[in-house]
Amino acid sequence: MSTTTSYADEYRRSMEDPGGFWLDAAGLIDWMRPPARALDSGSAPLYRWFPDGTLNVSANALDRWVAAGRGDQVALAYDSAMTGSKRTFTYAELLHEVELFAGVLRQNGVERGDRVAIYLPMTPEAVIAMLACARIGAVHSVIFGGFAANELAVRIQDAAPKLIVTSSGGLEPGRVVEYLPIVEKALAMIVGDRSVAGTVTSSITVVSEDELSVEAVIVRNREAVPGDAAAFDGRVGVRWLDLEDQLSRAEPVAPVELAATDPLYILYTSGTTGTPKGVVRDNGGYAVALAWSMRNIYDVHAGDVMWTASDVGWVVGHSYIVYGPLLAGATTVLYEGKPIGTPDAGAFWRMVEEYRVKVLFSAPTAVRAIRREDPALEHLAGYDTSSLEALFLAGERLDTETYHWIDEALHCPVVDHWWQTETGWAIAANPRGIEPLPVKPGSPTVPVPGYRVGIVDGKGRPISPGVEGNIVLELPLPPGSLPTLWGGDEKYVASYLTAFPGHYATGDSGYLDDDGYVYVMGRTDDVINVAGHRLSTGGLEEALNHHPAVAEVAVIGIRDELKGQRAAGFVTLKHGTVIDHDVLVTELVALVRETVGPVAAFRDVTVLDRLPKTRSGKILRKTMRQIADGEPYKVPATIEDPTVLTALEAALGR
Ligand code: COA
Ligand code: AMP
Repeated sequence: MSTTTSYADEYRRSMEDPGGFWLDAAGLIDWMRPPARALDSGSAPLYRWFPDGTLNVSANALDRWVAAGRGDQVALAYDSAMTGSKRTFTYAELLHEVELFAGVLRQNGVERGDRVAIYLPMTPEAVIAMLACARIGAVHSVIFGGFAANELAVRIQDAAPKLIVTSSGGLEPGRVVEYLPIVEKALAMIVGDRSVAGTVTSSITVVSEDELSVEAVIVRNREAVPGDAAAFDGRVGVRWLDLEDQLSRAEPVAPVELAATDPLYILYTSGTTGTPKGVVRDNGGYAVALAWSMRNIYDVHAGDVMWTASDVGWVVGHSYIVYGPLLAGATTVLYEGKPIGTPDAGAFWRMVEEYRVKVLFSAPTAVRAIRREDPALEHLAGYDTSSLEALFLAGERLDTETYHWIDEALHCPVVDHWWQTETGWAIAANPRGIEPLPVKPGSPTVPVPGYRVGIVDGKGRPISPGVEGNIVLELPLPPGSLPTLWGGDEKYVASYLTAFPGHYATGDSGYLDDDGYVYVMGRTDDVINVAGHRLSTGGLEEALNHHPAVAEVAVIGIRDELKGQRAAGFVTLKHGTVIDHDVLVTELVALVRETVGPVAAFRDVTVLDRLPKTRSGKILRKTMRQIADGEPYKVPATIEDPTVLTALEAALGR
């Protein structure tokens, strides 16, 4: 690694000599064939990192540390606040589990390049299944447990997995979430079996059972949740197999040699339409970027403990519950529970004390939830949190009020950092491992080495410091960031690289200040962020459109004190429809819950006679949002009928 120690030097070097910078960083990884070249720019604007390197990420996360004498160190500490169960896996034990799970995949015909969908709650099998895929070069696609059948179906259809790995279910406060009926329903949607599927949205292209990519569903039977593989076997023309039974017959599998550029996983994220985008992650670039970030951003090293209180279904979980800590030889903590209510607002502090957590990574929403429950932080005083050296937050804007509250309460720094599913790791952060920089509340600090952050107007012209505009990243993106989208380079180029040629469009708006600090203010598209979860308003609209009484819908994100934003639906009814208002609202809320999932936390419905539109028929979402948030607004010159805004104000009691 470079001997320079200041952020400015590191950043400059990453800009002036990216090849040298990242080849040095590649030394953090054990390669089967070390890369001689850093970047393949032959197909610009598409780039590939470490084109001639080969490696195995699972071997880097496990075998390597066992070989280095860390076999007895805890690799994974699992703590379920939902069941009270706890279990630790040493590196040697986790390796054994992953080798066998890879055997299960193999004995079910999964080969390099095949996709495997993983729909699991926050239990160790999720980590094990991901690493097992990585071991044999299968491409995993983890689907968050809070998504319902339609979201699952859309992702399964796009990724075309051979296998689905699931569990009898998840546990939410006061509620058991049975996964098997959801998986069955999703598969039934794809094959158009409406007797099981109910509604099939237009996001799904119905195929015959023979054309279904899925050959088997592997089920982990969880004691706490009813349902097993045997009861479902044969449904939707698929084999439903019991994981324990499969494991009892599995042979351990050695890691295979993969190209750095081979895909490691696909992770779907919400775009502006109802169809999510499949972000592709490669093996080599990702491993290097994460290993570099563990040292230089998080300051977490072999033997340290990192707890990321997210979910493996999100990018944060992929990068910093599973891959990052294990690539660094650290201990990672897997927590099944909430920041509050499981059992109280002291949950985080209990975990810090119990696992001697050095770095905790969470979302601002979780901090706001704790603040609401325990404003005087009485619980904190009851635990020894002296091991904690930093609290990292991401997923949504860290408002200054929340920042100050938690910063004053904790004895250690609170670090905001900004990133996206697409980048896989932070674009802007306080690089604590290189040099802690002064904090400016409201800013996730400075661009991370490798990222050239710019602010441009709608025409791509650079904007002066202090003025808000579109945040863009000059190409090439550093290692770890998406090389493409599943479904093709063209889709990737059209979605991200066309609006501002030579740049990746982040979809975020913000500004840089005179010191080069980044400020991220919000999205420029119809993506909303509910409790750090990214949702597409288009997807919610599609769900609402399926109600027989609904003529037109618009969903916008409005301000929410706890969750940052929440989705609010505005509907007009078909001419002559008579339906009780409460019944309509209940049905619409249920529709979103059943199609998109409970995680949308959709509750607000307003019925209008007409939606505010321009003369060309475009819904005036920004104006609607301003009215809903009680902000001043200008009546757009292109409005079709200004009285519709008055009616909207009245409906919202403004
Ligand atoms: N499986 C099934 N359902 C799920 C789920 C999962 N994995 N995760 C959430 N849900 C459900 C919840 O049960 C809830 O359902 P309900 O309407 O029946 O109560 C709904 O989705 C909304 O859940 P959630 O977003 O957790 O909101 P909440 O009001 O229950 O809790 C917080 C509020 C702030 C405690 C919670 O949002 C939280 O922990 N946020 C932090 C999020 C985070 O870490 N994000 C990181 C992304 S980087
Ligand atoms: P996701 O892809 O789900 O991780 O969501 C990424 C989006 O969340 C970004 O494009 C931002 O809009 C928002 N986001 C994430 N982290 C931050 C942050 N630290 N500050 C402001 N916005 C953030």
